[in-house]
Amino acid sequence: MKVTLSVIKADVGSLVGHHVVHPDQIRVASEKLKEAKDSGLLIDYYVTNAGDDLQLIMTHSKGVDSEEVHKLAWDTFSEVTEKVSKKLKLYAAGQDLLGTAFSGNVKGMGPGVAEGEFEERISEPIIIFMADKTEPGAWNLPLYKIFADPFNTAGLVIDESLHEGFIFRVMDVYEDKVVDLKAPEEIYDILALIGTPARYIIHSILRHKDNLLAAVASTARLSLIAGRYVGKDDPVMFVRAQHGLPAVGEILEPFAFPHLVAGWMRGSHHGPLMPVSMKNAKCTRFDGPPRVAALGFQLNEGKLIGPEDMFDDPAFDRARDMTNRVADYLRLHGPFMPARLGPEEMEYTTLAAVLKKLEARFRPAGKAR
Ligand code: F6R
Ligand code: MG
Ligand code: MG
Repeated sequence: MKVTLSVIKADVGSLVGHHVVHPDQIRVASEKLKEAKDSGLLIDYYVTNAGDDLQLIMTHSKGVDSEEVHKLAWDTFSEVTEKVSKKLKLYAAGQDLLGTAFSGNVKGMGPGVAEGEFEERISEPIIIFMADKTEPGAWNLPLYKIFADPFNTAGLVIDESLHEGFIFRVMDVYEDKVVDLKAPEEIYDILALIGTPARYIIHSILRHKDNLLAAVASTARLSLIAGRYVGKDDPVMFVRAQHGLPAVGEILEPFAFPHLVAGWMRGSHHGPLMPVSMKNAKCTRFDGPPRVAALGFQLNEGKLIGPEDMFDDPAFDRARDMTNRVADYLRLHGPFMPARLGPEEMEYTTLAAVLKKLEARFRPAGKAR
């Protein structure tokens, strides 16, 4: 059967600053999605959170960009904002709900969306990754390793069904364009683009031999949606696993290296991405370090069997330890680049105001004696 998986997330307010979703927010969202399941709109759902981001994991048969499903997500976020976030005076209530009225699709209105329709295989393992205090480009490095790096994914070399490679659909979020590039043949071109993760973001991955959808990431950047920076758009993605696709362990492997991502405090710093269990999917130190949690499901006629908490495992202890050591090192830089992001990427800046204030005091450098 054809099934659509829609992972739609938004930060609609949280407990103790930008820390964590409140249990009542999960409860209200779950009630709303249960109604949708009872009415037949959804096949199944799972509500969770990564830090201050409320995550709606939904399966249905309505296809991508379904107005009904997107309206359900929008109404759920709005209801959670009204019934819980505002009532409890949670922090930044309704933060990601930028539009005032729903107009057919949540894309461009604040929430992040990773959505795909595919034929459910005889057995369909899927991993859903959810990150907090970073941006969609954070998936570029792990997705590259999973689908193009034979030192990560043994199957690319030794499994005939992966040997023909994958297509990387890369989005230029400034120009709102996509380009399809084939690995392994075009890996240098792929890397030339995705090494700039603030601009070129992997949108999705397809298996070359049959165009089978292998992975989908959320690609909206709130900065560009709102015309100004309103918060790092903490990203989600899902990756299908096994039997002609990378194995679950090959999909998790890149996260054993806590690579540097943009985000962290005030969305204006680089930090290592720490793989954590769901219990630890909440940011503390310097509002971070940025975190990634992963839930594994098996689909069964669209039903979500699971979840498994994939990073709840001592095998990732060393990545967490490395994260803490890298965080110590980066924090020693205080307000200096490259620990702090470059001026064009910062979510908060006083630079324009400082320059204005000092305008009259700047004088030609030749007279600085
Ligand atoms: C980063 C983030 C936090 C806030 C910081 C300041 O994505 O959400 O680091 O930027 O806590 O928040 P405000 O300006 O709301 O006090
Ligand atoms: Mg927040
Ligand atoms: Mg967040």
